[in-house]
Amino acid sequence: MADGDSETKSSNQMWGGRFASGPDAIMEEINASIGFDKKLYAQDIRGSIAHATMLAHQGIISADDKDKIVHGLNTILSEIESGAFEFSRRLEDIHMNIEARLATLIGPAAGRLHTARSRNDQVALDFRLWVKEELQRTEKALTALIAAFLDRAEEHADTVMPGFTHLQTAQPVTFGHHCMAYVEMFGRDRSRVRHAIEHMDESPIGAAALAGTGFPIDRHMTAKALGFAGPTRNSIDTVSDRDFALEFLSMASITATHLSRLAEEIVIWSTPQFGFIRLSDAFSTGSSIMPQKKNPDAAELVRAKTGRINGSLIALLTVMKGLPLAYSKDMQEDKEQVFDSAESLELAIAAMTGMVRDMTIRSDRMKAAAGSGYSTATDLADWLVREAGLPFRDAHHVTGRAVALAEQKGCDLADLSLADLQSIHADITEKVFDVLTVEASVASRTSFGGTAPNEVRKQIAWWRARN
Ligand code: ARG
Repeated sequence: MADGDSETKSSNQMWGGRFASGPDAIMEEINASIGFDKKLYAQDIRGSIAHATMLAHQGIISADDKDKIVHGLNTILSEIESGAFEFSRRLEDIHMNIEARLATLIGPAAGRLHTARSRNDQVALDFRLWVKEELQRTEKALTALIAAFLDRAEEHADTVMPGFTHLQTAQPVTFGHHCMAYVEMFGRDRSRVRHAIEHMDESPIGAAALAGTGFPIDRHMTAKALGFAGPTRNSIDTVSDRDFALEFLSMASITATHLSRLAEEIVIWSTPQFGFIRLSDAFSTGSSIMPQKKNPDAAELVRAKTGRINGSLIALLTVMKGLPLAYSKDMQEDKEQVFDSAESLELAIAAMTGMVRDMTIRSDRMKAAAGSGYSTATDLADWLVREAGLPFRDAHHVTGRAVALAEQKGCDLADLSLADLQSIHADITEKVFDVLTVEASVASRTSFGGTAPNEVRKQIAWWRARN
């Protein structure tokens, strides 16, 4: 901005009193945050309007000065939004860029805005407001992702697929049940978002530098005006605390980890070898050399974004761990981590929602795979316990021999003849074949939360009522 930039090596107009000269160029570079904290302009202006209004209401500044300040701040808001505002690195950060412009626009009244506050409570306020709004956006995005999964789960409540442990065929499940596992995961992520909003719902403004202020301010009034449940209760903690940013990053890391596991499954499922799904053209790319290829790039990038989101959490935890109370400039390094993670997470959730909605489910391939790999072996063992009265350990052993025989004959369990099965255990009857199909297997898993289609439908209804 003009008057800030015209000062070459002169002392800073905000605290020039004590300083004979301006900062070294390197000092200016390491110190400035305007390159990234300009993102907080709307929150900064909103906070300043609430603060000035309260100062006037309390008789700390005149109503006339307040009107000039509010008018000037609104002008600055439109200047920034229209792109006309010139940000200056010399003025360090968003707070001083806006205040300096206010002085140019309205003259000496601008100098009264900073009464009874400091940049320490100001930045804590701006950043909290920003993170709170981002959490609200995340909550909506997760709701859309959950809705996409609920639709797919409903559509495929009866579609059998192999369930895996160790990525080895374990027992048949349904694709609907598998989708609902992700609904549970993203549902927990969304409740972490809601808890984080609750935790941070206190207004920092009025904590001033760290000790509070002697001016008769009304922190309840500013808290209310800014949409917080109330003011923070300890001024030292208020300017030292970045838990809200850490909670955002922790939530983001856990959510990204869930997205990454889903991304990994999508990558595996879309290989020709698995062939469980076909990604839409909208969420895949081709190869410049191999014409047959369709690559799951979006899923791979979601998987990779998790790396940078986790990195941001570790970065900010590490910044904070050694800081004595109260504010230290180290804390300026909080914003880029949060901004970068927020952008990555928003994009990752949106891409996943699109992929889940668009992908084609290849039920025939899932069903064929569900029946191979002796996936109903546990059903045979359970049958021997139930119908032939064997202890489970013995039933396990008998079943193991049946699997070995099927393997030797190169067929599935259900393809063994009754005579084959009776050669392993004499009590086996024709009725055993009822449990050896994948459909019978999934239908039998009726325990609460189990894979039986009716059980899954109940869980879908439970979530529908909460989404
Ligand atoms: N740009 C600073 C930050 O992001 C604002 C607070 C500066 N406070 C101070 N005492 N130097 O943390």
